[in-house]
Order: sequence, then structure tokens, then C-alpha cells
Amino acid sequence: DWNMPSFIEETIKYIRNLVKDEEKVICALSGGIDSTVTAILVHKAIDDRLIPIFVNNGLLRKNEPEEVLDLMRSLGLKVHYVDASSIFLSRLKGIKDPEKKRKIIGETFIEIFEREAQKFENVRYLAQGTLYPDVIESTSFRGPSATIKTHHNVGALPEKMNLKLIEPLRELFKDEVRKIAELLGLPKHIVWRQPFPGPGLAVRIIGEIDEEKLNILREADAIVTEEMLKSGWYYKVWQSFAVLLPIKTVGVMGDLRTYEYVIAIRCVESQDAMTADWVKLPYEILEKLSNRIINEVKGVNRVVYDISPKPPATIEWE
Ligand code: XMP
Repeated sequence: DWNMPSFIEETIKYIRNLVKDEEKVICALSGGIDSTVTAILVHKAIDDRLIPIFVNNGLLRKNEPEEVLDLMRSLGLKVHYVDASSIFLSRLKGIKDPEKKRKIIGETFIEIFEREAQKFENVRYLAQGTLYPDVIESTSFRGPSATIKTHHNVGALPEKMNLKLIEPLRELFKDEVRKIAELLGLPKHIVWRQPFPGPGLAVRIIGEIDEEKLNILREADAIVTEEMLKSGWYYKVWQSFAVLLPIKTVGVMGDLRTYEYVIAIRCVESQDAMTADWVKLPYEILEKLSNRIINEVKGVNRVVYDISPKPPATIEWE
């Protein structure tokens, strides 16, 4: 059990001693708590010899790139921002298979990150927000049949780029990282942010992805998040989000027929994401979500609520 204030001090000292005068450290930012805390610790140790890279993969939520950049600026981090949306989206064009989508996104991320890192000299280290559970999971044996979903991560990067790893959080659990984040003064919405998958909205649009579907999902998802926050439910659940189904159904508006997409709402409670149950949200909230999505999001005329537990369903739909 760590004493968190001294953990912060010790970690900063350790990194400061480790990284020599001319050397630089890069890290990938996602806006999530783990990569943010990692970046802050390294930044405190070596200032702007840390090069934080934020890649926009075109699969982020409404206003997310701007919000991540604002947060990083407020923390004093000089972020190297790369808008790679068009590369990701063009490579995903026509791809329906969930694992193929994940693979393309993971590989493209590594390629872009590597290319950007080469723009800087004397980069010797890669800082990553690996947690203790990630360490256990990647070292324990799991046969090929155990791969349910290929998680998006940068595991292949350090070896490929010949970089040494700095993983300041590798002995910590999530709740300990949250304590550190609070001590470092991070805002509540970052400290208690719900998990968001690396492949982003790509795994929340079933089948083929395009700009139109991404925009519809962004609007629907923003409404879900807004209402969950307003009602106080956001911080009570594990995750709450919208999924876009690639089917159209018939509806009626005024006296006109409509033929538009279906949005599914997924809201689950969980301890560790290994198992999960759907949340019995009050009907009033479900009603509000449905009314707002149908009225405000162009291209949607039907909303359904996902009542599947994990297992046998998973939390994400792909
Ligand atoms: P599933 O859908 O497998 O998700 O029940 C379990 C948890 O993992 C998150 N998730 C991911 N996180 N990269 C991530 O960093 C990924 O590729 C990924 N896929 C799923 C999911 O949101 C849930 O919290």
C-alpha cells in the first residue's frame, strides 16, 4: 500500500535521475486519466523534454479533441497535436468486421505515432500509463481462443522504435491512480471519467463507418452523457453511451413517413469490466433520452435500451 504524496515525490525523483540531460521522452495522450497522470509526472520531472503527442483518429466524441487540448494546456503540457482523421477514416472505408476494424486502428495509430516521434531528436524513452492489472493480464498465459477482442494499445511500440519504457503507474490499481490524480489537482470529470475504448466510436457503429454515421452517433452520445451528468447518474454507473445500428426502420413524423437509423443506449454497472449488468435507469431518464435523441438528432427515429448482461453479451457491441 502506497503513501500517495510520497509516491509522487519518489516517482518524479526517479524519472529525473533516469533521463539524462539531452534525452527526451515521448508519450501518447488520450485525455484519459492514466495517460494524463503519467504525462504530468514525467513533465514535473523533466519539463518540456517530455513530448506529449495527441493523435486525433477521427473516432472521438463530440468536442473531444478540443477538450483534451484545453485540459493539456491548462496543465502546462505543450502537446504535439496530429489530426489523422482522414487517414483512419479512409483505411476503415468499407470495413465491416469488428476485429479488422480494431486491427486497422491499432496499426494506423502505431504508424502515425512513430512518424510523428521521428520529428524530434534525442527521443530515448516512451512513457506509458500501464497499470498493475494490465501488467498481470499481458504476462499471464492466454491461448488464442481467449482473444475475445483485440484491445487497442501501444504494446508493440517500444521495441519497434527502439525506445526504453517509463511506466510510473505499473504497480498501481485504478483507485490509487485516481488518488494521485486528485492530489495532482485534476478536475473531477477526468478523475472519475467513464472508460472509453481505444478504437473509439468505431466499435460503437456496428459495421461500416462513415462520416454521416459518426456525426449522428456523436450527437446522440453527447445527449446521453449530458443527461447522465445532469441527473447525477453518470458517476454512479460504469459506463453509459450510445451505439448506432446500421439498420433503418420506418417511422412517422407529422404525416410523413420516415426511414432512419436506430440508436441503442447501453448503460452498465461493473466492478472490473469482466462482468457487467445493465442499469435499471428510471423510466423518466430513459424517456428524456429517447425524446431528445429522436427530436434533436437528424437521421434517427427510434431508440432502444440494451438489457443484456455480460456475459454473454460484452459491454461494447463490437
Ligand atoms: P467489453 O466490450 O470487452 O469491454 O466488455 C470491457 C471494457 O473494456 C473497454 N474496451 C476497451 N478499452 N481498448 C480499450 O482501452 C479497447 O480496444 C477496448 N475495447 C473495449 C470497454 O469500454 C469496457 O470498459
